[in-house]
Amino acid sequence: MQIDVFTLFPEAFDWFAGQRHVANALTLGHELHRVNYRDHTPLSGRQVDDTPFGGGAGMVLRVDVVEAALRARYGIDPIVLPQQRRVIVLDPGGRLLDDALVDELAAQPALTLLSGRYEGFDERIVEHFCSDRVSIGRYVLAGGELAAMVLCDAVLRKQPGALGHERSALEESFSAALEGGPEYPHYTRPAEYRGWQVPEVLLSGHHARIAEWRLAQSRARAVLAGGTMTGDDPESPGT
Ligand code: 6GU
Repeated sequence: MQIDVFTLFPEAFDWFAGQRHVANALTLGHELHRVNYRDHTPLSGRQVDDTPFGGGAGMVLRVDVVEAALRARYGIDPIVLPQQRRVIVLDPGGRLLDDALVDELAAQPALTLLSGRYEGFDERIVEHFCSDRVSIGRYVLAGGELAAMVLCDAVLRKQPGALGHERSALEESFSAALEGGPEYPHYTRPAEYRGWQVPEVLLSGHHARIAEWRLAQSRARAVLAGGTMTGDDPESPGT
């Protein structure tokens, strides 16, 4: 898949782009491009934002600046862009990113992410150029870059081959294999540490019993998390 991230801080993604699963995904032919709004602004002095009409604190990203950046990248009027690819604005008030939305986005051939700073985007950007508003949680970050990286991380690690070991993405927290619940606990050597024993069943070599124990642990954790897990079924008896 191809992901284009529009940002005022492209260098913020340097560390992210070097992460192993991201590097793996790029080696496999996926693409992660960064576009700096400032490189395409029609305004003087590399201006990209302005004071809000009606007053108030902070600065707002301008619609003409975002249009120019999108036109420079895609060569078309950005009002038709959402017909070609998902155009996602990172917005604390948007649809909450969860495993189901990650799966949906991971299946797309191309994504455009619009990341903003300051008070946000001129609403006409969202209304006319975007297909989705996505939030990574109900709190406010100083900018959309971290949220864009969170989305890219979650989507790219779902690409076949990105993790280097495919089972880990199948049976992980919130996956269908775990009924949408959190992951079971993991242990490694030493089998005993300060008197803390690894559960006997994991040392048994009995694969069916281990699978059963893990599913039970996942279900118990879903109950402890207060039934807020994705796919949590209030009808199920739990453990
Ligand atoms: Cl997408 N952006 C910002 N600035 N803050 C957030 C967010 C996004 N999601 C949660 N907090």
